[in-house]
Amino acid sequence: GSGLRHRGRASGVKIGTAAQPAAMAENGAYQAVLSQEFDSVTSESQMKWDIVEPARGAYDWTSSEALVRFAEANGQIVRGHTLVWHDALPGWVANGTFSPEQLRDLLREHIQTVVGRYKGRVAAWDVINEPIADTGGKLRPSLWMTALGPGYIADALRWAHEADPGAKLYINDYGVEAVNAKSDALYNVVRGLRRDGVPVDGVGFQSHLALSTNLTTLDANLRRFADLGLDIAITEMDVRLPLPATPAQHVAQAGLYTRVLQACLAVARCVSYTVWGFTDRYSWVPYAYPGWGDACLFDATYQPKPAYQQLRQLLVDS
Ligand code: G3I
Repeated sequence: GSGLRHRGRASGVKIGTAAQPAAMAENGAYQAVLSQEFDSVTSESQMKWDIVEPARGAYDWTSSEALVRFAEANGQIVRGHTLVWHDALPGWVANGTFSPEQLRDLLREHIQTVVGRYKGRVAAWDVINEPIADTGGKLRPSLWMTALGPGYIADALRWAHEADPGAKLYINDYGVEAVNAKSDALYNVVRGLRRDGVPVDGVGFQSHLALSTNLTTLDANLRRFADLGLDIAITEMDVRLPLPATPAQHVAQAGLYTRVLQACLAVARCVSYTVWGFTDRYSWVPYAYPGWGDACLFDATYQPKPAYQQLRQLLVDS
């Protein structure tokens, strides 16, 4: 097609986007751009625990099926997001009074049920999302870490691998794009897993950026993870701008989008570059950062920004 998809093939990089359930139902311009532009689709919310099992034992596969069937109908791969996270938990899990043993059983059953259902239909899973604490270079004290200890990470990866040996299994985090205490902690966790023979295939660098984000050590950081024998993925790329953004800020935004793609193209093990939604119409940013937005490749009326044009040009030239 004339879009971004297939343009990364020469360098083995799939260009992807997250897709929102509400947008998928729009059944118009959103789906046209989604199918034309991207090799890969990530379940932005559809496969999170609060959506798939809102009440214990009462599974709702409606929106995950809509996403997977759309991708299958359009020859796109699916990145499943996410199995183990401290957020997007249904109330019956987050506020339950379960013992650690019961939580471990619940987590195993959750992973085996979701991964088992989508066996062969999901190319890669963000098995563990955001396991590293924002400061202190340690594991985030999530519900899972507090109840199960650091072993929950290896357990989750082994359960996912048992449920679908063909799926690539990732650990995914934010604020780890540069060399810093957080990415050092992530590096040590992943190195330990590899040393212990735990099935982990890749690391996802979310890349939720602002114009102020310092990326001088991005290339060295991606390379050190690749040197562990892992695939690298840019999993949630966006560049938030203070509103209303100026043309100069759109140009600077394009510079960051292409800077990160260049780093991915420069590392052989970088297998995908995914944006976290492609249109400002459905971006999470304004909700999380009031006064900020304009973070995506297309504006709210699906008009491409300089970032889109520059990514397309970079892919053609690569
Ligand atoms: O599905 C319900 C809908 O039925 C209801 O009417 C509506 C209003 O309450 O809420 C809908 O669920 C929302 C869901 O997005 C739908 O897409 C949730 O309230 C809302 O919390 C959820 O937000 C998502 C958030 O993760 C929490 O799951 C954002 O869209 C999504 O962009 C964001 O993505 C995260 C990644 O998973 C991890 N990395 C950070 C990134 C940004 O926070």
